[in-house]
Amino acid sequence: MSLSDADVWHAIADGYTATAMHLLQPFSRAALDGVPLGPDSRVLDVACGPGTLTELVAPHVAHVLAVDFAPAMVRACRDRLASQTQVEVREGDGQNLGLQPTFDAAFSMFGLMFFPDRAAGLRSMRGAVRPGGHVVVSSWVPVDRSPAMTHGLAMLKAAFPFLPDAPVTSAFASVDEVRAELEASGLRDVSAREVRVPVQRTAEEAWRDMAIGAAPVHRLRQSLSPEAWAEGEARAVAWLAAHHPTDPLDYVAIIGQGRV
Ligand SMILES: C[S@@+](CC[C@H](N)C(=O)[O-])C[C@H]1O[C@@H](n2cnc3c(N)ncnc32)[C@H](O)[C@@H]1O
Repeated sequence: MSLSDADVWHAIADGYTATAMHLLQPFSRAALDGVPLGPDSRVLDVACGPGTLTELVAPHVAHVLAVDFAPAMVRACRDRLASQTQVEVREGDGQNLGLQPTFDAAFSMFGLMFFPDRAAGLRSMRGAVRPGGHVVVSSWVPVDRSPAMTHGLAMLKAAFPFLPDAPVTSAFASVDEVRAELEASGLRDVSAREVRVPVQRTAEEAWRDMAIGAAPVHRLRQSLSPEAWAEGEARAVAWLAAHHPTDPLDYVAIIGQGRV
C-alpha cells in the first residue's frame, strides 16, 4: 500500500482529524490569502481530508464542493461541517472529477502531491474552474529542509532503528518543480512560494501527532506486533525526553497557484 491508496487515508481519518488537520490548517489559511474570494464565490476543495480548507473558507463564500477518495475522510468532513449548508461533500478521485467550469477557485492542499498522475489531477481541477479563476496546490519541501519533519524522522529512527536513513523525499518538492508542472498544465500567471509555519508542542504532542496522525507511521504500526510497537514507543519517549526542543520548529511547504 502506498500514500496513493485510499485505504491508507481511510484508516487514519480519525487520527488525522485530531492532529494533522490542526497542524496543516495554517497552510490552508496562507493559500486562501492568495486568492480573491467573496460571498458569491464557488470553491472546490480537492482531496479535502476532514475539511481542513473547506472549514476555513465556507463561512465566507456561497458554495464549497469538497471531494476526497477516502470514505472515512468524506465522513469526517461531512460530520464536522454538517451545520454549514453551503458545503457539499462527495467521494471521488481527484484525477477524474468530470466537473463543469463553474468554480471560481480550486484548491488541493497536500492532496495532488500524492496523485499517481498529477497532470490528470491538474487537468481535472482546471476543467472545474471558470476562465480567469484560480487553481492552488500545496506540497512539502524535502524532509531535510523542514526542521519539524527532520525532528520527527530522527524520533522515528530512534524508536525504530531499522527504518531507512535517507530522508523521505518526494517529487513535486521544490518551488521550481511546482511552478513547472502548473505551467505545463496550461495555467497562466503561475507563481510558487515556500511557506514556513512554526509549531510549538510538547514532547507528548510530538509523539501523538506522529503515532496517530501520520499515514506512513500508521502503516508502520500495522506491520509490527503490539509488543514491537510498544518497545518503539518507549524508545521514542526516551529520545524525546533528551532531544525535544523548547523552541518551535518550522514545517515548510510550497504553495503554487495559477489562473485558468
Ligand atoms: C495529507 S491529506 C490532506 C487533506 C487536506 N487537504 C488537508 O490539507 O489537511 C491527503 C488527502 O488526500 C486524499 N487523496 C489522496 N489521493 C487522492 C485522490 N486521488 N483523489 C481524492 N483524494 C485523494 C486523501 O484521502 C487525504 O484525505
